[in-house]
Amino acid sequence: MRVMPVFGTRPEAIKMCPLVRALKEDEAFDVRVCVTGQHRELLDGVLDAFSVTAEYDLGIMRPGQTLSDITCGVLSGMARVLLEARPELVLVHGDTTTAFAAALAAYYARIPVAHVEAGLRTGDLYAPYPEEFNRVAVGDLAALHFSPTERARENLLREGKDPARIFVTGNTVIDALRTTVRADFSHPLLTRAAGRRLILMTAHRRENLGRPMERIFSAVRTLAKAHSDVFVVYPVHPNPEIRLLAERMLSDVRNIALTAPMDVFDFHNFLSRATLVLTDSGGAQEEAPFFGVPVLVMRDTTERPEGLDAGTAMLVGTRTETVLAGVETLLCDPAAYARMARAKNPYGDGYASLRIRDILKNRAD
Ligand code: UD1
Ligand code: UDP
Repeated sequence: MRVMPVFGTRPEAIKMCPLVRALKEDEAFDVRVCVTGQHRELLDGVLDAFSVTAEYDLGIMRPGQTLSDITCGVLSGMARVLLEARPELVLVHGDTTTAFAAALAAYYARIPVAHVEAGLRTGDLYAPYPEEFNRVAVGDLAALHFSPTERARENLLREGKDPARIFVTGNTVIDALRTTVRADFSHPLLTRAAGRRLILMTAHRRENLGRPMERIFSAVRTLAKAHSDVFVVYPVHPNPEIRLLAERMLSDVRNIALTAPMDVFDFHNFLSRATLVLTDSGGAQEEAPFFGVPVLVMRDTTERPEGLDAGTAMLVGTRTETVLAGVETLLCDPAAYARMARAKNPYGDGYASLRIRDILKNRAD
């Protein structure tokens, strides 16, 4: 079966590489990977880390790219690639503009689409923006839906999707985590953090750019100054708007380390050793509970309510006071901390890729 996994950003790559590897190991599949290059350095780092090479690279990234730029670039690039490679199935992941535009290109070429990490919803088209639209649109175009959780499956059933085409597999991000963490990992920043409580932070969402990001940074600045026994590590997204603000507001605080984006091995190893994670990321909400690390989500809503229900994550919004209050609770209330740290990871067992491969294989037979 000729299959074409398509992805373009760091999180898609981290979650698709385990599946690409599983498919490439099985001779039932002729796998042609297409990367859109919506991200460049962030994407290439993940491909290197998982030793995955792409047969096609659309190379679309431009500084300051708009959503229209990404959509147009992917749509026209994919039209050419699909014509040449003629896959029988296109696999896309999640909710990025790459996923949306690649699924649309496949639909225009009358090639069926399989959606990995299908069925996540907030119900609000602007939160997160534009990801909620992207995943709803991919869901409507897809012929097969691989949902990470039962709850995601229920979202799709509520929208009237055919139950025979929805499969609950777990999230492939847990597959990736099984291969990246090492007991003997060392890093200069971990040495600097030694003896202090490590807070790992990420913040990059489009809807948090501007005032919300300023309020978040103000909270982190205040908490670092108030707790000298805490060490904050923040690998800053390369988006210049975020980088410049982080440098302006946080670079002079001694127990905050701003770093370049970490490669995925470093990030997972830091995560596994963190006291808590402060993030607006989707993937980090799924990864942290695997290590028993509580997650404070700097958003007003999440498409990953499983973590809230299980007690692995807490929404703290983007207001300075609410972010601060969330961190203070975890730092100062050992019982509250223990409850979150002990909660069970609801996102899978690390074998999602193999399940997806088997489902595709049975359908091809
Ligand atoms: C994208 C996804 C978002 C995902 C995020 C993961 C969309 C609309 N958004 O958002 O869902 O959570 O990726 O990180 O698909 N840049 C670089 N080098 C890189 C990557 C980005 O310089 O390797 C800079 C560029 O200036 C680019 C900017 O970051 O213009 C924003 O990148 P873009 O892909 O447009 O959006 P993200 O915010 O990264
Ligand atoms: N990540 C990484 N290096 C970093 C920060 C994050 O490798 O410096 C990984 C992290 O492990 C997770 C993914 O990037 O798997 C999350 O990506 P991001 O937060 O950019 O996007 P989202 O998940 O919100 O779409």
